[in-house]
Amino acid sequence: MIDKKYPDVLIQTTGLTRKFDRQTVVDQLSLNVPAGSVYGFLGPNGAGKTTTIRMLLGLIRPDAGEVSLFGKPLRSHRLEVLRQVSALVESPSLYPQLTGGENLEVTRRMLGLPRQAIDRALGMAGILDVKNRLVRAYSLGMKQRLALAMALMPEPTLLILDEPTNGLDPEGILDVRELIAGLPKNMGTTVFLSSHLLSEVEQVATHIGIINHGKLLFEGSLSQLQAERQQYLLLASDRPEQARELATRNGWRLLPGSNGRLKLEVNGPADAALVNRQLVQDGVNVHQLELVQPSLEDIFMTLTKSPVG
Ligand SMILES: Nc1ncnc2c1ncn2[C@@H]1O[C@H](COP(=O)(O)OP(=O)(O)OP(=O)(O)O)[C@@H](O)[C@H]1O
Ligand SMILES: [Mg+2]
Repeated sequence: MIDKKYPDVLIQTTGLTRKFDRQTVVDQLSLNVPAGSVYGFLGPNGAGKTTTIRMLLGLIRPDAGEVSLFGKPLRSHRLEVLRQVSALVESPSLYPQLTGGENLEVTRRMLGLPRQAIDRALGMAGILDVKNRLVRAYSLGMKQRLALAMALMPEPTLLILDEPTNGLDPEGILDVRELIAGLPKNMGTTVFLSSHLLSEVEQVATHIGIINHGKLLFEGSLSQLQAERQQYLLLASDRPEQARELATRNGWRLLPGSNGRLKLEVNGPADAALVNRQLVQDGVNVHQLELVQPSLEDIFMTLTKSPVG
């Protein structure tokens, strides 16, 4: 039988709104984070990611709207729900005069966890070898990994990470990415992580929410986002006006143009060849034909470049 201790949606926000000095930085945000997902919360600098995360953790109050964790309103069940959550938001507080192991020991005692939890967490974060070194002598990346180990130690149901790969070198980024991707399966932990880089989350996330100017622009599975990548054809000819007319008459959908070139919605190379044939038959000389498959990055850029609305 399936153990259904938690609802299908671990984080739900409805109409979440927060202002700073009259500026609305989180605007009617309604998020749904499925249990068992790695949810990438994506948006450019200043989009409102950290402010949202602070509200998810009850660190600041929303001006309107509500946060529910594990199906329970944060407002009325604060301690009960936050007990199952670990988070890493901005620079973690570590004791520099203690070793990495001793830092974890403080947390371990506070939470009443078994002794072996320390080495397990250090191992997962890939810093078991520096366990006995003073944190003062840690590099930025090591500190980041130690903070991650601290967050993992209680094996939380939900892990919330604000830009977890900040300060890590390429190898560190790969390690942390691999660790995060495995958490739902290995620990039963749902992960909510923010980033301003699509390339950062598309490798680990099963679900994506895109935010800009505090507003949610997209939410869905990674494959749903990929499905938004409509192919198109860029076409230049000696008679652009006639080409445009002919394309429309033949039933092709025109997209807003690109530097005088015709932009048509198509579904692959066969369509490109067909368009070309139709135009040539009617005496239009096509001198450039380019089939474009937008990347996820293109979609992200298009979504987040749009003016404030
Ligand atoms: N305490 C505060 N007082 C005033 N304005 C704030 C405060 N915290 C955040 N803001 C403003 O709210 C907006 C959103 O900030 P936030 O830190 O949530 O963005 P972010 O998406 O996390 O950006 P980044 O990618 O740079 O971390 C910004 O314009 C920021 O200046
Ligand atoms: Mg931030």
